[in-house]
Amino acid sequence: MLIKVVKKSILDVKADVIVVNLFEGVKHPGGVTGIVDNAFDNVISNYVIKKEKFEGKFGAIYQLPLVKEGKKIFVVGLGKQADFTPAKIRTLTEKVVKACGKSVKKVVSILHGAGVAGLDAEICAQMIAEGASAGAYKFDRYISDKKEDKVEEFIIAEIDATKFKKAEKGEEKGCIVARSVTMAKDLINDSAQYIYPETLANFAVENSGVKTTVYNKEQIKEMGMTAFLAVGQGSVHEPKFIHMEYKPTRKAKKKIALVGKGITFDSGGLDLKPPASMLTMKDDMSGAAAVIATMKAISELKPNVEVHGIIAACENMPSGSSYKPGDVIMSKIGKSIEIDNTDAEGRVTLADALAYAEELEVDEIFDIATLTGACAVAFGSVVSGILGNDEDKVKEFIKVGDEIGERFWQLPMYEEYGEKLKSNIADMKNTGGRNGGASAAGIFLSKFIKDTTWVHIDIAGTAYVDDMATGVGVKSFVKYIVG
Ligand code: BES
Ligand code: MN
Ligand code: ZN
Repeated sequence: MLIKVVKKSILDVKADVIVVNLFEGVKHPGGVTGIVDNAFDNVISNYVIKKEKFEGKFGAIYQLPLVKEGKKIFVVGLGKQADFTPAKIRTLTEKVVKACGKSVKKVVSILHGAGVAGLDAEICAQMIAEGASAGAYKFDRYISDKKEDKVEEFIIAEIDATKFKKAEKGEEKGCIVARSVTMAKDLINDSAQYIYPETLANFAVENSGVKTTVYNKEQIKEMGMTAFLAVGQGSVHEPKFIHMEYKPTRKAKKKIALVGKGITFDSGGLDLKPPASMLTMKDDMSGAAAVIATMKAISELKPNVEVHGIIAACENMPSGSSYKPGDVIMSKIGKSIEIDNTDAEGRVTLADALAYAEELEVDEIFDIATLTGACAVAFGSVVSGILGNDEDKVKEFIKVGDEIGERFWQLPMYEEYGEKLKSNIADMKNTGGRNGGASAAGIFLSKFIKDTTWVHIDIAGTAYVDDMATGVGVKSFVKYIVG
């Protein structure tokens, strides 16, 4: 889909659908919606609002099958003006594209939010670009009877010179973010039959847009990442350790490491998952996908921040060479782990990946992982879990998420959650059972960070929803790092 901003009146753009908007309760539309209303014989005020009683509730779309010059008008509800946010622009634009029928090739939209709402035109255009792209997303790689792209062009019309300039900038950024989110979704939606550590690593080399080093099994062993290796030892696919690096040309104002859980398939290992739980486990590299995709966006947006993307990629499989329940394995930092359950594998790989990240002497470490069913049970697909060793940093990231439209909810880190991780024969166990599992997993990870600011994000419930990847995490990371 082509997305662009034109410096024209919305009425002067040839399109199949014109998108205008209405805040809840408005009876006489002003701004561009008012202009369109006048141009089309007051059809919005007299018919849509008065007769059809369209109230402008958030996300509602009134589709006028007009008439004049074969154009259709979509009136979208913005909801209450006091509750309006940029992220809502993304959501409703996604809905608009999804609502477009087969015959719609070209859409022209008002720059939502930049009128009476008074939002910055740049962020408004960015949200429209991201929403249009999300609305058009499909994963049809393996479908023989491919449906054509519905909407081919999505135009944002803005005649005001200052807003137009800002909108162009926002649209450009939105397209970069959208391409990255799409990249993450494609990678996650693809099957574990094709995406295994080696292909994931190749993908990062070819698509991250930054310097990428891949370490093989021998090298991983030399680097002391024995806990990570244990998880992958039951698979026919060799584990790979991926390190992506972005360095700004000027002196970086800070250094960040993003660590993504990269289990390319989680069967549970010898503690095999039941069929229904295993079914979606190709998504267990969603954290890794979010990190690769973020690196790509960073490579294009070029912030003045040094960013490292780190993935310990392996497959968790049962076989004669698998790690076993009861095994005691060593980790990179020298702490021993008793394997209580081979299905709690993500944290074991992350233990070494976090230790590697800390050796880079970064200022902050973030990890993102489809880590616990417990988090998915608690929060569903509505919000991701978050915790960390720095209250302020966790709060700051939650705020960034709120601003950009990804939700995070803080999980408790009471030491009691760690009690169950005590082992008689090793420094700790890898699990203390399912109850309180999201916090216990967080406590486990925290033991592998010495003194660097660290934030852990659990996306088990949010990464893959209704049999489709969401690309969760990318937008928040980009917002946090680039602004
Ligand atoms: N990858 C799973 C967590 C998961 C569950 C992700 C559902 C997405 C959806 C993780 O490796 C896992 O299996 N965790 C176990 C831990 C348990 C054995 C303590 C779980 O949550 O059941
Ligand atoms: Mn597992
Ligand atoms: Zn897993």
